[in-house]
Amino acid sequence: MSIIGRNSTLFNAYQKEKQKVTANFKLNEMTSQTQISIEKLSSYDLAVMIGTIDGEIAKRGGLEVYQAASIKGQDQKRGGDSSKRMVDWLKEIGIWQTKDMKIKPVALEIGSLSSRNYITSCKIFERITRIDLNSQEPGLIIQQDFFERPLPTKLVERFDLISCSLVVNFVSKPEQRGRMLRRITKFLKEPDDAVGGRCLFFFVIPLPCVKNSRYCDKQRIDEIMKSLGFECRKYHESHKLAYWLLEWKGSNSVDNEYAIGKRELHGGSKRNNFCIIMEAES
Ligand SMILES: C[S@@+](CC[C@H](N)C(=O)[O-])C[C@H]1O[C@@H](n2cnc3c(N)ncnc32)[C@H](O)[C@@H]1O
Repeated sequence: MSIIGRNSTLFNAYQKEKQKVTANFKLNEMTSQTQISIEKLSSYDLAVMIGTIDGEIAKRGGLEVYQAASIKGQDQKRGGDSSKRMVDWLKEIGIWQTKDMKIKPVALEIGSLSSRNYITSCKIFERITRIDLNSQEPGLIIQQDFFERPLPTKLVERFDLISCSLVVNFVSKPEQRGRMLRRITKFLKEPDDAVGGRCLFFFVIPLPCVKNSRYCDKQRIDEIMKSLGFECRKYHESHKLAYWLLEWKGSNSVDNEYAIGKRELHGGSKRNNFCIIMEAES
């Protein structure tokens, strides 16, 4: 990159390609797998190719999620996606399983790439509201920024379950990540209003966010979740992802004063800078 940076022709070619890919790349498209001999490429072609790669990484929400997404792609070939784990966990804890339940729960999926995942096929939910910044399935996935979604004023606008898989790491500012988590609690039903008296939050982030960050680890996430009124029901680490199923204990359990800044927890030059900043609610 430093060679490209010193040559304006190469830098312009790199920038142009990166911007083009960031604007047009569809997240549920597979990256082309063509094998190219780098030695045969001109510097110009190489600059364009790096632009393509960087554009795709930017579109996928940064390096950590890019790495996780490529692993997830492999998982999906084997028949799995993160929502499968969520559905398996719902079965394990025995919630919402009776087929003849008169009222079924409703779910919100934030950052939805596809309507054809296990949240849909499990048939547990009466209704699933799917939102994404860039809807890949207009009509089934609402194109909406979660931060712009109006806060609920009625019970029907709240959910028994919210799924937020690989989205918080996609949000670029640490303060915004904290705001997203705090905002999620405002869309959950109070347990007394929820189907079966319980409401749940399914949360997934790339494993390096808890295993290799300078500013974040599992303990920090657990502390943040506790401050938001969540109790952990299930936790799992796969090769590349960390998964939680959390139960929300209601707005009376939320600590509105809780705040935590960017403080180094683990030293070392090879660590990433993933961080969640929590601000007290004003
Ligand atoms: C890496 S994808 C993850 C998709 C899927 N949940 C999964 O686990 O495979 C992250 C998605 O979150 C979406 N996203 C990021 N910030 C968002 C926001 N503020 N509101 C709605 N969607 C958002 C992005 O557009 C992107 O499609």
